[in-house]
Amino acid sequence: MAKVKVAVLGATGMIGQRFVQLLEDHPKFEIAGLYASERSEGKRLGDTLKVRDYQFKDDTMEIRIEQLDVAKIAQGCRVAFSGLPTDIAGDFETQLAQAGCAVFSNAAPHRMDADVPLLIPECNADHIDMVRKQATFKDGGFIVTNANCSTTGIAIPLKAVDKAFGLEFACVSTYQAVSGAGYPGVPSLDIMSNVVPYIKSEEEKMEGELAKILGSVKRGKFVDHPVETLANCVRVPVIDGHLESVTLRTKKDAEVEAMIKALEKFTAEPQKLKLATAPLRPIIVRREENRPQPALDVNAGEPARARGMSSVVGRVRKKGTYFKMFVLSHNTLRGGAGGSVLNAELACAKKLL
Ligand SMILES: NC(=O)c1ccc[n+]([C@@H]2O[C@H](COP(=O)([O-])OP(=O)(O)OC[C@H]3O[C@@H](n4cnc5c(N)ncnc54)[C@H](OP(=O)(O)O)[C@@H]3O)[C@@H](O)[C@H]2O)c1
Repeated sequence: MAKVKVAVLGATGMIGQRFVQLLEDHPKFEIAGLYASERSEGKRLGDTLKVRDYQFKDDTMEIRIEQLDVAKIAQGCRVAFSGLPTDIAGDFETQLAQAGCAVFSNAAPHRMDADVPLLIPECNADHIDMVRKQATFKDGGFIVTNANCSTTGIAIPLKAVDKAFGLEFACVSTYQAVSGAGYPGVPSLDIMSNVVPYIKSEEEKMEGELAKILGSVKRGKFVDHPVETLANCVRVPVIDGHLESVTLRTKKDAEVEAMIKALEKFTAEPQKLKLATAPLRPIIVRREENRPQPALDVNAGEPARARGMSSVVGRVRKKGTYFKMFVLSHNTLRGGAGGSVLNAELACAKKLL
């Protein structure tokens, strides 16, 4: 069967280049155009490299970057993967959906829209049907977003906890990598030998997004999960991988071993459907006392295509009615491009493309 033609928007950025990494050999999708700003027009992808732990194929390095153009993208591509900055993503993605493109976005502007799924297929695969409510759907266009990178890593274990024991309360403190701020990101003099206890709008995003993702769809409307969440967000001098400390309370009481088992055995729709970028185990639990660590665990996930797609949980403890644990997630793969590619694979499996 012919592969679906896709465009990557923001192809010279941190997320855009992760898209290219995941798409250059994809079983269902084929890159038909790489787009960025006029500053990059005409450059080879190989002249704009940002991802440092992956070697693109020679042919891929030769692809020329084009300037964003709705008509051109919509004519050549069924799908657009967006790694555009917040300030331009909203309008541009709307125009692309109006032109008949299926847009899978990493950007924030449409995440909380009343008819746009904020999708993590392990948590809320059924939300994808809400694209049918979008005015553009009748002509084939729609928008699906993925969550903020710090929300995604934590949402998957919280879903597993909710499913097994009912989630009542979660307090999350993050240790977020610099690649989460895009390229060139935080100035080196601000982050070397330092931690920065402020990331603009991040805490509000995490709290709002978790309620939508863990929530349900009732009578064609998103209904927030009633969980109470508190987030504190901090930038640390790590290249890739957001580590998060979580304290949570459940409705049903459980012992530590039962909690670990519930996390380890959790699988969902992507595993059932065997989606190409789905990790065999969405949550990997480490029992060593000093894991997970970004340097050791950020690329966890099997098979090879799903490297960096598992959430890694460690140090699961209980004190009184509270559980404590750490979670690590790859922010530009699971929390970025990998999340969008998995969303598009789900859309394909559901015959929406
Ligand atoms: N980094 C993460 O961990 C992460 C995770 C989840 C979501 N996100 C979201 O994903 C999006 C991309 O983030 P990023 O980290 O990849 O940012 P980035 O490294 O700064 O890349 C931004 C990309 O957008 C392009 N761009 C900028 N202004 C443009 C314009 N006026 N017209 C067309 N293209 C333009 C840039 O092209 P030029 O090179 O030509 O300027 C570049 O390709 C953001 O919305 C971000 O919030 C990021």
